[in-house]
Amino acid sequence: MTQRPEAAAGVADADLDGTTALVTGSTSGIGREAALALGRLGAEVLVHGRDEAAGEAVVTELEGLGADARFLPADFADVGAVRTLADVVSSHVDELDVLANNAGGYFREGRLTDLGVEYTFHVNHLAGYQLTADLLPVLADDARVVTTSSAAHRGDQIDLDAVESVDDYSSFGAYQRSKLANVQFTAELGRRFEAASGTRTANCLHPGAIPGSGFFRSLPGPLPRLVKSLGRLPFVTSPADGAATLVYLAVADRVADTTGRYFADCAPETPADVARDPEAQRRLWERSADLLGIDEPLAQAVATDADADPARAD
Ligand SMILES: NC(=O)c1ccc[n+]([C@@H]2O[C@H](COP(=O)([O-])OP(=O)(O)OC[C@H]3O[C@@H](n4cnc5c(N)ncnc54)[C@H](OP(=O)(O)O)[C@@H]3O)[C@@H](O)[C@H]2O)c1
Repeated sequence: MTQRPEAAAGVADADLDGTTALVTGSTSGIGREAALALGRLGAEVLVHGRDEAAGEAVVTELEGLGADARFLPADFADVGAVRTLADVVSSHVDELDVLANNAGGYFREGRLTDLGVEYTFHVNHLAGYQLTADLLPVLADDARVVTTSSAAHRGDQIDLDAVESVDDYSSFGAYQRSKLANVQFTAELGRRFEAASGTRTANCLHPGAIPGSGFFRSLPGPLPRLVKSLGRLPFVTSPADGAATLVYLAVADRVADTTGRYFADCAPETPADVARDPEAQRRLWERSADLLGIDEPLAQAVATDADADPARAD
């Protein structure tokens, strides 16, 4: 039988009273289960997605558990909507303790967002990058940024010149690149947090293959229904199982000082070689800022770092 995520993560006794967590993509699937777990542990939970009815239903569940909760809608393909989300969160909280960048999906049709960026890369990576940058001023000193990546990050490269094109679009290739970006983003954010001499951490995870979430909704014909019913079989990994590593990284004392790493099954794993390439991580960071037309987040931290260690300078 599926355990609750906090039990599977070994943090069922944690007390998150007085803390606030934003879980993006918590209207369904892994994010919803993580939001409920964090609420059970006492956190105030900010629920995010696009589906208002589903979001309000999660808020009602959280309130039924005795947790404070609020639904904040935002379409992650829309730069303005992400900025508004960050503004609403910033005015609502004194400090944000957990930012779970979990929203994302697998998108069958190739298309560009209004920003001119390939949709999967934008929703799965760029929106989380933007949200993290916008929320830096309210992140607590010991905040944890947890990003849901995937084992699918293995086996692709990111051609940063091609993220503004859908020529030769492959839905799986686009998904792989976006999940590789999640790992590279995490490593670079972790490095910049460390360079800023703070105690904030950034880690990412593979949640497992979870057919019972809404992840397969863009498959053709009856496939989404078939895959979802597969997810109800007792031996198949459930969304609650998938949320365990996210909850572990958001809560466990054991990883309070761990940063920039990739996890699966509540344990560190070595990601693909390309995911560990510091140059590729830095290029992704800078290109993401360029695409959004913003200043490079935490640039001061690495400038100081490079001054101290000239071997790391350009
Ligand atoms: N399921 C798996 O097998 C699997 C495996 C590895 C990694 N993952 C990752 O796990 C994460 C969660 O996926 P899941 O499996 O739980 O799928 P899910 O049930 O479909 O949940 C996806 C969440 O992301 C939100 N979302 C999707 N597109 C969005 C957009 N354009 N703007 C704002 N929110 C958006 C959805 O909210 P709305 O519908 O309300 O917009 C929903 O809350 C994803 O990052 C996925 O890549 C999943």
